[in-house]
Amino acid sequence: MKITFAKPGQPARGTLVVLANDALKIGPLARGLLAKSGDLLARAAKTAGFKGAVAASLDIVAPAGLDQERLLVIGTGKAAPGTLDWQKIGGAIQAKIRSGATEVTIVAETADGTAAPEAAVEIALGLRLGAYRFDRYKTKKKPEEEGDASTLKVTIALAGDAQARKLWKAREAVADGVDIARDLVNEPPNVLDPAEFAARAAKLTALGVTIETLDEKAMKKLGMNALLGVAQGSAKPPRLVVMQWNGGKKGATPVAFVGKGVVFDTGGISIKPAQGMEDMKGDMAGAACVVGLMHALASRKAKVNAVGVIGLVENMPDGNAQRPGDIVTSMSGQTIEIINTDAEGRLVLADALWYTKQRFKPAFMVDLATLTGAIIIALGDHHAGLFSNCDQLAERLTAAGVSTGERVWRMPLGADYDKQIDSKFADMKNSAGRQGSSITAAQFLQRFVDGNDWAHLDIAGTGMAGPQNDLNRSWGPGWGVRLLDQLVSAHYER
Ligand code: BES
Ligand code: MN
Ligand code: ZN
Repeated sequence: MKITFAKPGQPARGTLVVLANDALKIGPLARGLLAKSGDLLARAAKTAGFKGAVAASLDIVAPAGLDQERLLVIGTGKAAPGTLDWQKIGGAIQAKIRSGATEVTIVAETADGTAAPEAAVEIALGLRLGAYRFDRYKTKKKPEEEGDASTLKVTIALAGDAQARKLWKAREAVADGVDIARDLVNEPPNVLDPAEFAARAAKLTALGVTIETLDEKAMKKLGMNALLGVAQGSAKPPRLVVMQWNGGKKGATPVAFVGKGVVFDTGGISIKPAQGMEDMKGDMAGAACVVGLMHALASRKAKVNAVGVIGLVENMPDGNAQRPGDIVTSMSGQTIEIINTDAEGRLVLADALWYTKQRFKPAFMVDLATLTGAIIIALGDHHAGLFSNCDQLAERLTAAGVSTGERVWRMPLGADYDKQIDSKFADMKNSAGRQGSSITAAQFLQRFVDGNDWAHLDIAGTGMAGPQNDLNRSWGPGWGVRLLDQLVSAHYER
């Protein structure tokens, strides 16, 4: 799909898209373009029962009196233009145009004649989010049936086209970041092993991101035995990738994002049931989000110093695999008794968080992890679990969630939960059983943040196989890129 912003002129012959409110009123520009069609819109709306509800559509083919092959009317309801969810409008347009249409002109103007460049670029972002699909491994493509948007040419018409083009650069960076995260989550685990994942992350060097990749040897030297213990049952060696984007003041304290990157989670010796195990290729959605986010920040040249750290391992059972009962010494020096080898994400993050804190002393650390099945039971796939030792960071994340639609819900932390992970034989154990298990997992992580401001997002529900809608048709939704880009842009750019 190619998106351009242009001054209103003569629209292409293909599809014309106009917006109508709940009184079926369209803007002055659209009225001019539809002048020769008489009362077509009103009659068609009546017949089809179209009442201009938000994101509802009225599709008129071969519209009498017009040069276009198709007139698509999208509802904007009764909301004031300033409060409209423009991404949703973009998604609704995308859902309609990708079958059949090639050249599309969208008149980005509401009934009262408002045509804000800010709204136009959100429409474009909605178009992009809805266009994504993962078809790399389909050898027999049926473009129309499967909704291929790749040949679409979309012009968004508005007087402020120059301003929209400028704003779009930053929003396109976010769209690209989401696509990257989605690709990573969707890739099969035989293709995306830790080394391949690291290689994909390393592509960010093209945008000016500094990349360091730690291999097994380097991690051994640092004492990352919690992470290494998870990896030792796999034929694929682990990696830890450190990404740095320095768009802020030289030497200014960075913000840090840490991702769980278990490229496949069999459970290890505490092996998972076969049913649905294929979904565990998505157990690296946290790491995928961090890569997508770093792409977005670098690509839009965010004025922030940001660090991304991802721990990449495969959790497999073999003769060398970690056992229940093993005790490992983490990089922090704290010892961990392994109760369940399927509670591996926290072991990976333990060393990744400790490393990030010691090396960067960041303003905050936000980690993302498909950490516990229990968070899906608690919140479904509509909110990620949020755990934090810092009220301000938690509030900022919650607000960013509301504004982007990637919502988070704060869960408790506390001494009673922390006590649950004390071990008979070591400093702590990696599993405390079923009760409050999302919380005890978060308590475990907190023991490795060394007092740093920190938030943990449990994205087991939101990070894969989430709800399908006009803004996401992908199994891997690329969850969190928009949320964290918004967090940074709202509070941490100079
Ligand atoms: N990757 C899983 C969590 C998960 C489950 C993510 C379902 C997405 C969908 C994690 O490594 C895991 O296995 N967690 C266990 C922990 C338990 C053994 C303490 C869980 O949640 O059951
Ligand atoms: Mn597991
Ligand atoms: Zn896992």
